[in-house]
Amino acid sequence: MRKRLLMSDQTLFRNIDVFEIDYVPEFFNYRESQLDDLAYQIRPALEGGRALNAICRGLPGTGKTTSVLRIFAELEQTTKKILPVYVNCQTDRTKYMVYSRIYATVFGHTPARTGVSIKSVMDAIGGALQRQGKSLIVCLDDANLLHYNNMLGDVINTLLRLHQDYPGARAAVFATVSDMDLDLASDLSRWVTSPFRPSDIYFPPYDAEEIRGILRDRIRIGLYPGVFPAAILDRIVEQTMESGDVRVGLDQVKRAVLNAECAARTEVIEEDVTTAYEQSKHVHLAYTIRALSADERLLLRKIAELSKEQQPLISGAIYAGANSKPKGGYTAFFKRLRKFDALRLIDLIRVHAGGRTSEVVLRYEPEKVVQICG
Ligand SMILES: Nc1ncnc2c1ncn2[C@@H]1O[C@H](COP(=O)(O)OP(=O)(O)OP(=O)(O)O)[C@@H](O)[C@H]1O
Ligand SMILES: [Mg+2]
Repeated sequence: MRKRLLMSDQTLFRNIDVFEIDYVPEFFNYRESQLDDLAYQIRPALEGGRALNAICRGLPGTGKTTSVLRIFAELEQTTKKILPVYVNCQTDRTKYMVYSRIYATVFGHTPARTGVSIKSVMDAIGGALQRQGKSLIVCLDDANLLHYNNMLGDVINTLLRLHQDYPGARAAVFATVSDMDLDLASDLSRWVTSPFRPSDIYFPPYDAEEIRGILRDRIRIGLYPGVFPAAILDRIVEQTMESGDVRVGLDQVKRAVLNAECAARTEVIEEDVTTAYEQSKHVHLAYTIRALSADERLLLRKIAELSKEQQPLISGAIYAGANSKPKGGYTAFFKRLRKFDALRLIDLIRVHAGGRTSEVVLRYEPEKVVQICG
């Protein structure tokens, strides 16, 4: 008998959405203290003032976005005094796009596309806040992406100075960053007196027990009982710990169950998990690459191609081989390498102390990097 390729009549998933990346978890534990800290920042706004600014800092997959979205959802349900605006800097990468997003939340529709200046969008926002007496809190999620384009300071300071032109308009910024080495102060330094004095809220990586707890909750909701043996979960916890990104574990559970389904089994076995990991380990890589600009992606791809041919790979050789050189020459090029290093895509090893020649070691398989960079 021919093996059936699609078995729509049999599923081990009670609800497969539970394992999707954008699923909003019902259970959100282990982040009580960070949620308390965020609530503390908001309190002045509930009392008619402006919220305090905050930076949520932590490696990818440590619950920063989920925490802010939970707090924002609660605000929307409980008060009209505060207007929370969520800006995803992966999608909104220019000043105009960020302000348009805020405008859209304030007015319920995006600004007319043609002939509208940034200034007039800001004017409209400031005026509305003044009239409505609402306190604005803008979450710049993955704010580091604006930082790499040198726009972060501008965006933040414009928002925080709104009250100068619109007395009574109140705004605060919650920025999340996953780049632990990022020094926001340096971007803001050209503003002699920046009003941005944020509290730092740190999101440490989850430990093995916490990862196990998060995955167990999802398994309970998403799968039928008995599908996922506890011993198998231990393997996944272990492998998730390597990147520290919960997303790797969630993806691995989903793929392992799909593998079991494909083999027409009703219980996941070791082999399903092993095969799943080959794919799931790249989830972390894909997340990081998605955040790069087109030029950065091209450069990373070049590095991947060259590292198949040259060992050791030296920064100068990459620069010489690059098809298009950045405007700022070698300095701009080297800055990109430093960014890749900060994102844990490559290791940058200085050849001479103080010099700008470095050895570049790719941290992932070159083939996979080329594939994901497209
Ligand atoms: N404490 C938790 N309980 C349940 N699920 C969690 C928890 N923390 C994170 N997750 C899940 O892990 C995934 C990643 O979380 P989130 O997007 O909040 O991380 P992040 O810190 O914003 O990561 P990044 O820096 O990559 O944006 C999400 O699917 C989220 O639902
Ligand atoms: Mg996030």
